[in-house]
Amino acid sequence: MLPTVFPTLTAQYASVRLALRSLQPQLMTWRRQIHQRPELGFQEAQTARFICKKLTQWGIEYQSGMAKTGVVAVIPGDRPGPVLGIRADMDALPIHELNEVDYRSQHDGVMHACGHDGHVAIALGTAYYLSQHRDSFAGTVKILFQPAEEGPGGAKPMIEAGALESPRVDAMIGLHLWNNLPLGTIGVRTGPMMAATELFHCSIQGQGGHGAIPHQTVDSIVVAAQIINALQTIVSRNVDPLAAAVVTIGKLTAGTALNVIADSAHMSGTVRYFDPSYRDFFAQRLDRVIGGICLSQGATYTLDYRALYPAVVNDPDVTDMVRSVALSVVETPAGVTPDCQTMGGEDMAFFLEAVPGCYFFLGSANRDRNLTYPHHHPRFDFDETALAIGVEMFVRCVETFCVR
Ligand code: NI
Repeated sequence: MLPTVFPTLTAQYASVRLALRSLQPQLMTWRRQIHQRPELGFQEAQTARFICKKLTQWGIEYQSGMAKTGVVAVIPGDRPGPVLGIRADMDALPIHELNEVDYRSQHDGVMHACGHDGHVAIALGTAYYLSQHRDSFAGTVKILFQPAEEGPGGAKPMIEAGALESPRVDAMIGLHLWNNLPLGTIGVRTGPMMAATELFHCSIQGQGGHGAIPHQTVDSIVVAAQIINALQTIVSRNVDPLAAAVVTIGKLTAGTALNVIADSAHMSGTVRYFDPSYRDFFAQRLDRVIGGICLSQGATYTLDYRALYPAVVNDPDVTDMVRSVALSVVETPAGVTPDCQTMGGEDMAFFLEAVPGCYFFLGSANRDRNLTYPHHHPRFDFDETALAIGVEMFVRCVETFCVR
C-alpha cells in the first residue's frame, strides 16, 4: 500500500507536473541538437554558446568562460532565501557513434555516449521553468554547466574560478541519466555513492638480452608478471573486506620479439574505493609492492600515481530531501532504489566536498525500445522520457529546498 502522502502530493502538484511534462518536446529537441554536435572536455565552445543563447532569450543572468567553457546561470526567486546549486556536465567522449538515428553525431569520432547531452537539456528545462516561475521559490538557484567531466575534470577548476561564490551556494544537487536503472526509477543513496578514482603508470626497467640466455638479463616481463599478481593481493589481503575497492591493470606493454628478453615493461591502471580513510593508502602500498619486487629481481622502476577524483559522498540531510522528492515524482516507493552505488567515478565529488549535496541516478533504460546499452558504448542511447522526469526532480528539489 502506498503511504497516504502520495495522493495529496500528486493532487497539489498536478498542474505543475502538467506544465513540466509539456516541456518534453523542447527537451528532446535541445538534447538532439546537442547530441549532433558533441565536444570533448574543455572544448565545449559550441555547447556553451547554445546554452548562453537560450539563457539570454529567457532573460537569465549568467557568467560564461568559467574554467574555459563553463557557464553559471543565476536565477533569483522573488524573495530572499537559500542558494541551491544544480550541476550539469556538458562534455562528450572520443567514441565513434554506431547508432543509426537521425540525430546521430555529426562530429566524427566524438559522441555523447554518457548522456551529458541529456544533462544539459534537463538543466536548460529547469532554468527555463524557474525563470518563468520565480514566485515558486525563495533564494537563488545557480545552474552550473560544467566542462570536462570525463577528464581531466572541470568541477575543480570551476570551484577555483568561484562558481560556488557570490552568491555562496548552500547545497548542491546533480543527476546522471542511468541505463543501469529502468525508466521511471531513481537511485538515491546516503553516503558514498560513486568511488574515488585514482590512476597510475609504472615503468619497469630490467636488462634486455637474448631469449635463450636469460641468466645474463633482468627479464622485465617476468618482473611485471609478479607485480601484477602481487597488486591483486592489495584488495584481497590489505583492504578491510567490508570496504569495497578495485585495483585494475588495464594496460601492459613490453617486448619486441619472441626471442628477445624485454628491456622494459610499462603498465597502467586504475584504483577505486569509497572510504576516504584509504586516501594515500593505495599510492603507498603500490609503491611498496612494486619496489619490493623490483629490488628482489634487480630491476628499477618509476611510478606515477595520481588521485583523480575523490569519492562522491552524499550528505544525509540533502539526500533525505532528494529521496522524498523522488518518492513523490515516481509515485511508488519501489521506484526509488535505495542502495544505488557504483565504482565508477565522477568529479561531482569536488562539489560535494565543498558543500553538502546529493548526486542521484535517473533511470533511463527501456528494454522494449532496446535502449539498454551501457554508458560509454558506441550504441549508447537512453529513453528521452527521462528528460522531463529529470526537470521535475530538479524543480521539485528547488521548491522544497528554497523556501523562506
Ligand atoms: Ni557521465
